[in-house]
Amino acid sequence: MRHPLPKAELHLHIEGTLEPELAFALAERNGIDLPYAGPDELRAAYAFTDLQSFLDLYYQLTAVLLTEQDFADLADAYLARAAEQGVRHAEIFFDPQAHTARGVDIGTVIRGLSGALEHSRERYGLSTGLILSFLRDLPAEDALKTLADAGPYLDRISAVGLDSAEVGHPPAKFAEVYAAARDAGLRLVAHAGEEGPPEYITEALDVLGVERIDHGIRCLEDPALVTRLAAEQIPLTVCPFSNVRLRCVDRLEDHPLPQMLAAGLLVTVNSDDPSYFGGYVEDNFQGLHRALGLTDSQLERLARNSFLASFVDDARRGELLAELDAAAAAPGVSAS
Ligand code: ADE
Ligand code: ZN
Repeated sequence: MRHPLPKAELHLHIEGTLEPELAFALAERNGIDLPYAGPDELRAAYAFTDLQSFLDLYYQLTAVLLTEQDFADLADAYLARAAEQGVRHAEIFFDPQAHTARGVDIGTVIRGLSGALEHSRERYGLSTGLILSFLRDLPAEDALKTLADAGPYLDRISAVGLDSAEVGHPPAKFAEVYAAARDAGLRLVAHAGEEGPPEYITEALDVLGVERIDHGIRCLEDPALVTRLAAEQIPLTVCPFSNVRLRCVDRLEDHPLPQMLAAGLLVTVNSDDPSYFGGYVEDNFQGLHRALGLTDSQLERLARNSFLASFVDDARRGELLAELDAAAAAPGVSAS
């Protein structure tokens, strides 16, 4: 196998990197009983019919995360895997409300995660950002309280996001908290157009003012929206394995990513919840090559887009793009 291309991962839920073995190790450390005989039986439960069926298990397993050390161990395990997959910069979602609802203090979550990320540059050569994500199926008031509770830690957070069950929870519900996040100097992204309609993408852009759309694949149902997204070069953080496992797309062979590239959209490829969806980000790149015949130059375009769409400063972006240029010019370095 050839070396993976250097890339940024911009759509990754840290709770979705919890591998069954780590889940059981943390459960034992914390004296928690999981309703599965072991990692293999747990893995066998990873058969999802839609987003909600996945979220039910995803939230259930967060029960093993209790201490600062648990969150640090989770993040460090991801960073080690990501580095092996060619990730050179990662912007990482976390769902504070999934933890505070269980009585875990938001400070415990943020200190644990950011503590691991602090060492990432020296340990793995990997720069990072943290994206605080609101659960859209909870009331907007809960999101406002979460942002307020995160106040003492905002210097460790680069952006806010919006995730969880999409349909029936349009972006406009969160206009007030996004305005507050913007006033606090945070960057803005939101999941839209995964299971929800193209109108949610437009609303996320026009009402929330987001700079990137997470998923966004349903934009293809609205040609005028595709034209706009291409003209404005709004980044879309697409997650092919996730789309197949959550039945948004039947098979990887049917994934619309080539169509999205051909339409001039600024598409990136990401793993979303890699422990649950059958692979990390380089596995997604390789899957696209195998299933859809994406060429080396298309895969390079995707890696380049990931750096262009990231929230790094200009100096770091320059370094990352130069590294990609060097890798693309070197024989034997490719995602295929
Ligand atoms: N939370 C974790 N993964 C998610 C996804 N793919 N969509 C919405 N919310 C999520
Ligand atoms: Zn996601």
